Amino acid sequence: MIIEPRMRGFICLTAHPEGCAQNVKNQIEYVKSKGAIDGPKKVLVIGASTGFGLASRITSAFGSNAATIGVFFEKAPAAGKTASPGWYNSAAFENEAEKAGLYAKSINGDAFSKEIKQQTIDLIKADLGQVDLVIYSLASPVRQHPETGVLHRSTLKPIGGTFSNKTVDFHTGKVSEVSIEPANEEDIANTVVVMGGEDWAMWIDQMKAAGVLAPGATTVAYSYIGPEVTEPVYRKGTIGRAKDHLEATAFEITDSLQDIDGKAYVSVNKALVTQASSAIPVIPLYISLLYKIMKADGIHEGCIEQIQRLYQDRLYSGKPVPTDDKGRIRIDDWEMRDDVQAEVAALWKEATTENLSEIGDLAGYKNDFLNLFGFGFEGVDYDADTNELVQIKSIS
Ligand code: NAI
Ligand code: NA
Repeated sequence: MIIEPRMRGFICLTAHPEGCAQNVKNQIEYVKSKGAIDGPKKVLVIGASTGFGLASRITSAFGSNAATIGVFFEKAPAAGKTASPGWYNSAAFENEAEKAGLYAKSINGDAFSKEIKQQTIDLIKADLGQVDLVIYSLASPVRQHPETGVLHRSTLKPIGGTFSNKTVDFHTGKVSEVSIEPANEEDIANTVVVMGGEDWAMWIDQMKAAGVLAPGATTVAYSYIGPEVTEPVYRKGTIGRAKDHLEATAFEITDSLQDIDGKAYVSVNKALVTQASSAIPVIPLYISLLYKIMKADGIHEGCIEQIQRLYQDRLYSGKPVPTDDKGRIRIDDWEMRDDVQAEVAALWKEATTENLSEIGDLAGYKNDFLNLFGFGFEGVDYDADTNELVQIKSIS
């Protein structure tokens, strides 16, 4: 079939298999161009199919020759219906890994469940024995709790009062005022259950008990801080409470890994266009202004540049891992530079529907959004008849 983007609100209902494959290949080329990293050898990536998790899997494999197991929750294709992009990304990743002689297997299912954890542990035992790095990169709006069966939903709300600010509909470029009602205690608790650190700790506990964590194993989860303008809806809102919990969990996990000399880190990453971040009000406007400035300064990065730098300059530089006063790795350092933030704050005040395509990088935002679904890549013939029924080798 000929596959075109079909937008519905903040998502695209279709994905292009060859475009997704091109995206994966581009990321692989980038990592290879930066040279070998003396990094991990056997890696589990939880949330491996898109965004920062996919970039982590690619950097592990093609930067450091690692065997990788990827866990994700993606929709398989059906006749006349495309798969979700993470499905095609993972199919392409496995093909490229195979060509390079690298072990790669994937598990598609709910990472929050006991079953998927057990299946993953069994696969590690059977094929790899142990892993020396576990990347935790889930972004999900819901979590069914494995003990209670309760389905928790996360929210993106301010805490303590209504928040009003500018936002943009990045499809139309319309800048408008958005007001978000404050969260109640239940919203906060639910968001912490979904996006906090409990599930990360469960993974590591169960992996350790099963003996599949190598001595000295490292685990890393991703967090975000961001600027003042987004604070009420992000870092000081419900999702921020979940990130506080995630960051606190890193210390608990490190304590629990003392006897195997293991270590848990949180890495604070840059704001980027992903399926997760596009759904957060205010953030797309911030990102489009930020991109404009960071590109002009030559310091713009996407997921792959961020994670390649995380591995090469932070985790596996051969020197002690640099952290901030809260023990966090910071690869949002360029985003948070004073000059960059001052410029964003100034543009923020000015931004309107009329001037955003000039003062902000709306085109870049839209392009990145299309790219998430495999559209807008050079070298892909989007008019050609394409097989949507692409399978993932290790799953089919
Ligand atoms: P994403 O939406 O691109 O990736 C989410 C991944 O989680 C996908 O692989 C998806 O299949 C998987 N997933 C979701 N629910 C699942 C489930 N129940 N079971 C198994 N897999 C599941 O998200 P993104 O943006 O890469 O986010 C990853 C982490 O990075 C999150 O913790 C996010 O808060 C953080 N982060 C994101 C930033 C951004 O601007 N996008 C900035 C800084 C941190
Ligand atoms: Na991810």
